[in-house]
Amino acid sequence: ELPLTKEYLKSINKIYIIACGTAMHAGLSGKNTIEKLCRIPVEVDIASEFRYRDPIIDEKTLCIFISQSGETADTIAALKLSKEKGAKTLAITNVIGSSITREADYSIYTHAGPEIAVASTKAYTSQVVLINILAIYFAEILGSTPSSELTKLKKDIFNLPDKIEEALKSSEEIKNYAKNIYQEKDVFFLGRGIDYNTALEASLKLKEISYIHSEAYAAGELKHGPIALIENGISVISIITDKNLVEKTISNIQEVITRGAKTLVVTNQNLPANNFETIITVPDTDTLLSPILAIVP
Ligand code: M6R
Repeated sequence: ELPLTKEYLKSINKIYIIACGTAMHAGLSGKNTIEKLCRIPVEVDIASEFRYRDPIIDEKTLCIFISQSGETADTIAALKLSKEKGAKTLAITNVIGSSITREADYSIYTHAGPEIAVASTKAYTSQVVLINILAIYFAEILGSTPSSELTKLKKDIFNLPDKIEEALKSSEEIKNYAKNIYQEKDVFFLGRGIDYNTALEASLKLKEISYIHSEAYAAGELKHGPIALIENGISVISIITDKNLVEKTISNIQEVITRGAKTLVVTNQNLPANNFETIITVPDTDTLLSPILAIVP
């Protein structure tokens, strides 16, 4: 139902993904996958920023808008602006018939059922899945990634529900950890690459649900200022799912341990257990899909 031709996709020189909050964090995963599989540059922007600047958009730009509700005013305004400037617009939403679907050239749906919980893990995970499916679809049309790799990624997507069930088996460990930290005033989240995206979303959820102040940092940025805030007893939660970045992230965690931080690591890698206070393991999957599993704990 998405009539985007090879000719059109080849003519695009930039994709914007525009959204707010959690949906924007899902967009960050979209950037990773689209750039990797399609080799088209992707910029992710916050709708409330995008709409008030003068973004460079023309008919060679595809603008993708992610909104669970399909009713977020800033996202809809950003969509209208993009259309005025000549871009094609594609909405990713959960709500059929929502305002955004009436404005967008094309709409695709997460079909995640009604949004009930503030944590909105379901909205986030289904948005990340859908934007990955979209990237695979674009890559198929463009022929930009070997089909064997795309088939493998599709299989990994089909295996996600079972793996989420598996991730949920850590619920007792998670409860125990929560009991230890629920009175903290500040919590830090660290990650590199795709794990930084998960850190951003995790930090948003901790703030919103627990009213605990938290910050997410790209682990390599820590030494450029925020390390000053890491003091004895502070809780630092790190996410490690990209095997190429394990050593780098571990060395950043060592820096916070040296300063007396208490550490939790959420990972799908085999890490030396004695280095960290708590490790919560999530099942392994393609790195591009790892935020879908890592966000569950
Ligand atoms: O309905 P939307 O996806 O457009 O909402 C955007 C944000 O308000 C939303 O993602 C929010 O950040 C989350 N519900 C926070 O948990």
